[in-house]
Amino acid sequence: MNLVKVKNHEEMSEQACRIVLDKVSSLPSPVLGLATGSTPERLYELLIDQYNRKAVSFAHTTTFNLDEYVGLDKTHSNSYRYYMENQFFKKIDIQKSHTYVPNGTGDDLEQECLHYEKLITDAGGIDLQILGLGLNGHIGFNEPGTSFSTKTHVVDLEFTTRKANARFFRSAKEVPHQAITMGIETILQSKQILLLVSGKQKAEALQRLFYGDATEEFPASVLKNHSNVTIIADEAAGVPGTARSLSNRK
Ligand code: F6R
Repeated sequence: MNLVKVKNHEEMSEQACRIVLDKVSSLPSPVLGLATGSTPERLYELLIDQYNRKAVSFAHTTTFNLDEYVGLDKTHSNSYRYYMENQFFKKIDIQKSHTYVPNGTGDDLEQECLHYEKLITDAGGIDLQILGLGLNGHIGFNEPGTSFSTKTHVVDLEFTTRKANARFFRSAKEVPHQAITMGIETILQSKQILLLVSGKQKAEALQRLFYGDATEEFPASVLKNHSNVTIIADEAAGVPGTARSLSNRK
């Protein structure tokens, strides 16, 4: 794993923006794996800015989001489809039919998972997958204990994850109990992975990722088994290998 140490969330987003731009500009039909949540919000703003300056076009890009809540349709303001439309897709020139987010409202969610896997395969796989890091080490919504060999599947969200995400909802009770997520194996099949880590609430997870073994009890640790992973972590997250990182663990 290649670690890039940056000062803050802004610098993390700028570095990530450069990597995404390089990928999108260097491939004829790039396929991006995207995340939601707080971590990549600024990255999307910077990419929109680059698009407005005509420095990049997404006309030939295809995207696959990591996950979606079960039961929230695309018009629900907390659905990840809604997030992506409003924070990114409708502000760039991507073709809507080339943007994929799992559908958490279908009658047959198992079928939806199989279909999502097939779509990724048919697109030629993901060239660059962007990930955030869950407090419990989840990637996508793969919670601790998930087998490293899972493909896209339906997951029961942990209490800690629902609690962490309650900040986006009017009340904690509204946070769905289930989600569809790309599996760990799906994520690992991406050609390149970019993990973004910002904020002191992530310090403990980042330390564990760096110094712990690869174990299903800590999903992000699977990234140790991939040959092209870049982690961009800011000072608040306690960049491993520095005195600051250790003092930030509290
Ligand atoms: C989001 C996702 C999650 C988040 C993680 C961190 O699509 O798959 O794994 O990346 O929960 O969330 P934030 O960025 O809000 O701290």
